[in-house]
Amino acid sequence: MTINMNETEARPCIFTRACRVVPLIGALAIALLGASFLSTSQAKASEGTPLKHLNWGFEAPFGTFDRSALRRGYKVYSEVCAACHSMDLLRFRNLSQDGGPEFTEEEVEIIAVEHTIEDGPDEYGDMYDRPRVAADAFPAPFANTNAARASNGGSLPPDLSIIAKARGGAENYLYSLLTGYEEAPEGVEVPRGMNYNAYFPGHMIAMAPPLVEEIVDYEDGTPMTVDQYSKDVVTFLTWASEPTREARHRLGFQVIIFLLVFAGLMYFTMRKVWADQH
Ligand code: HEC
Repeated sequence: MTINMNETEARPCIFTRACRVVPLIGALAIALLGASFLSTSQAKASEGTPLKHLNWGFEAPFGTFDRSALRRGYKVYSEVCAACHSMDLLRFRNLSQDGGPEFTEEEVEIIAVEHTIEDGPDEYGDMYDRPRVAADAFPAPFANTNAARASNGGSLPPDLSIIAKARGGAENYLYSLLTGYEEAPEGVEVPRGMNYNAYFPGHMIAMAPPLVEEIVDYEDGTPMTVDQYSKDVVTFLTWASEPTREARHRLGFQVIIFLLVFAGLMYFTMRKVWADQH
């Protein structure tokens, strides 16, 4: 049988020499792209000090929040941070819900009545102050953002309700930030009203170190250190940014179990249905 030379041209692309180069070019392009991603991520990493990473119990797939840490964290927030930062999305009753600090309802009532809120109008048309109840929101430290800036040298203390989700690095960033105040390196000028923080982007932060040893009383014997306060308040802020986190994890677990059982049932159904075909 004679071979028709024209068949060579009809061969599939992968066998021709020109086409063998195509995957090479593709691989090269992917390598270059990968390299460019790598270099940008390296550039980003070199912009800020690498964050401190802690072993947070709640981060594990079935992890839960340490209730005592959440309660202490609330104490730190309310006695220190609440002087400047609001948490608009929280209501006192959230403090007793499942998966949170789980204060009892009586404890929450006692916490809430320490704060007042303007209500009204009364029968004479006047507004009046009354103690807060569990259904009321956390109080804000300032009447509006202008007042907040005026009290903080022009900088706005952000609302902390969802801060753990709003910042890259989440809990590790918050922990690093709170424990990251240090002497500015030689030759770095810190402007008045600013503080040097190794982890804040640009390193100059308007918030003075909010935590010092023994600033909040812990009655359960937990060390009253900046490190411990930071861990506790960060745990609290992480819960606040997603109060249903534990429920979500639980649901995810149940769905996986369901899918496994379902997959098993489907497998045996398939074997039964196709049994006659073999
Ligand atoms: C005396 C007021 C004051 C207190 C008290 C205070 N902060 Fe701040 N905080 C500020 C100000 C002002 C800023 C804005 C800083 C800036 O933009 O330079 C800020 C910013 C922050 C930020 C945002 C950082 C970022 O990445 O933008 C976090 C998080 C924060 N504070 C957490 C806390 C926590 C937690 C506490 C309590 C332990 C606390 N703050 C106590 C004034 C305060």
